[in-house]
Amino acid sequence: MKITVVGAGAVGATSADNIARKELASELVLLDIKEGVAEGKALDMTQTAALFGFDTRITGSTNDYAKTADSDVVVITSGLPRKPGMTREELIGTNASIVKGVTESLLKHSPNAIIVVVSNPMDTMTYLTLTTSGLPKNRIIGMGGILDSARFKCYLSAALGCSPNDLNAIVVGGHGDTTMIPLMRFATWNSVPVTEFLSAEQQQKIIADTMVGGATLTKLLGTSAWYAPGAAVAALVESIVRDEKRLYSCSVGLEGEYGQKDICLGVPVVIGRNGWEKVIDYKLNEQEQATFSKSADAVRNMNDVLKTL
Ligand SMILES: NC(=O)c1ccc[n+]([C@@H]2O[C@H](COP(=O)([O-])OP(=O)(O)OC[C@H]3O[C@@H](n4cnc5c(N)ncnc54)[C@H](O)[C@@H]3O)[C@@H](O)[C@H]2O)c1
Repeated sequence: MKITVVGAGAVGATSADNIARKELASELVLLDIKEGVAEGKALDMTQTAALFGFDTRITGSTNDYAKTADSDVVVITSGLPRKPGMTREELIGTNASIVKGVTESLLKHSPNAIIVVVSNPMDTMTYLTLTTSGLPKNRIIGMGGILDSARFKCYLSAALGCSPNDLNAIVVGGHGDTTMIPLMRFATWNSVPVTEFLSAEQQQKIIADTMVGGATLTKLLGTSAWYAPGAAVAALVESIVRDEKRLYSCSVGLEGEYGQKDICLGVPVVIGRNGWEKVIDYKLNEQEQATFSKSADAVRNMNDVLKTL
């Protein structure tokens, strides 16, 4: 198994680090446009192999895509992160041209790869990749909902005083501060609905904290987060390469599911060796479906900006 991560910045390097430690690949390539950075980080990670006990061979590359040839999975993290006060959407112009160029270069050398899109605004970058690459839809997966769901569990576990590992909770919709939808009605603490333990006020606060989860970190760090995003990428890649069939919220090309088409949006999907394999219908109630449609409208407006670039 060969995996390439494009962008050796905060999220790309953390993703690669986790992928190596989990031994998800025999070969891992880190590529960046900045001279020497990917090579340096690859060498640094390689020197942890004897300490962590993994056998993955890690190499770095400054924009030489020949080194990424025949990758089974590619992860695209190249692009600008947001700064405090910025929305993910403000990154569209710069990141669209980076993501499109990177995808074309990757596919020249790895035509059969599954593509994981991380760069923001992620749903629009995933849609751009789907509509410009000509690849089957199941091979293009936007990573955002896994991270948002982990943040949802983080705030739920704090309020409940429980282990996040005993929680089942999912965030669907767009990967944006105002477009994501933490599905409180479906969240359970070892099968018991969390709504039985939380007041309406507590539930509202958890939803609000989850939605600005990324912005809270950007304010503290001065740039966007990387530990949880890198862990979320590795979890997604793990389900692909080990064919785990995990049920994750990912941004995928919809063709009528959840009442939407011609859009990439976060929905629960089964992830396996073929990429995303099927969408699971959670049977949203009227209010949840209306919120989902509103989220889709906002993402569609963002996708329309692509036409003006
Ligand atoms: N989807 C998510 O859940 C999620 C979470 C966190 C961050 N992000 C996004 O991921 C992206 C990366 O964030 P980061 O914090 O790692 O940023 P970063 O600035 O630390 O790293 C980005 C890297 O991309 C590289 N790069 C730029 N153009 C390139 C090109 N054409 N080819 C190869 N490499 C190129 C840069 O040199 C840099 O090293 C941002 O768009 C950020 O908003 C998404």
